Amino acid sequence: MQNLLLHEKSGMNDSSRYKVNSVREPFTVKMAFLILRNLFMANYHIAPSILSANFAKLGEEIANVIDSGADIIHFDVMDNHYVPNLTIGPLVCEAIRPLTNAIIDVHLMVEPVDRIVPDFAKAGANIISFHPEASRHIDRTIGLIKEQGCKAGLVFNPATPLYYLDHVLDKLDLVLIMSVNPGFGGQKFILEALNKLKAVRKRIDAGSKKILLEVDGGVKVDNIAEIARSGADTFVAGSAIYSAGRDSDPHRYDTVVAALRAELAKV
Ligand code: DX5
Ligand code: ZN
Repeated sequence: MQNLLLHEKSGMNDSSRYKVNSVREPFTVKMAFLILRNLFMANYHIAPSILSANFAKLGEEIANVIDSGADIIHFDVMDNHYVPNLTIGPLVCEAIRPLTNAIIDVHLMVEPVDRIVPDFAKAGANIISFHPEASRHIDRTIGLIKEQGCKAGLVFNPATPLYYLDHVLDKLDLVLIMSVNPGFGGQKFILEALNKLKAVRKRIDAGSKKILLEVDGGVKVDNIAEIARSGADTFVAGSAIYSAGRDSDPHRYDTVVAALRAELAKV
């Protein structure tokens, strides 16, 4: 409960902050700074993955999910090479950027990584995360993301060892633990991810830097509390949110986002 209060105090639930309409002020560097600062001060963040949204109505789907109280837009980029699926690229990021002031959290499932990083930065991404197996030079890729003015994240597949954090943890802004094998929405949560989250939480807490600990894959209303107890603070949810839209909700996803937050309030 305390966590939720802190969350509300920080203003992350203030939907006016993310107002989506045609007269919205242009997105400025100052706005990006304030939003990122709030993000790193709040306790729990809900990050709907637009992979499960209705792509024929993408702008509306993004506006609705943020107006329903979600915090971050999780943007899954797949290349049919690093993962066996093909999704969206910088052009789509650029197209949605003017629609929301919410953080855009780009999850790159592409190989190679470096060539595409500046394109996403220019397209308005706030956080860019990549898989260590997909980069020849992990430290260089982290540096590149930061040079481009974005926050940097490193992503761990279910079987990827955590030693990739050994020499770079203090350079990261986010660690993303995959709780499914990357490539598709709607898969089942792999329980071993809970142990991994606990291990990363210890490593983050041993340092002084604020680093987000995100989890991605199979997150639902009925397991989000246990995942939070294992140390995650940022929760990607695709199918759980986008399959639970209700015509009777003012913004389609109010009920499901509230249910996720109610579970987090029990932690
Ligand atoms: C999987 C993607 C996820 C996916 C999550 O490779 O990285 O972000 O969309 O979807 P759900 O929540 O349905 O498991
Ligand atoms: Zn993802």
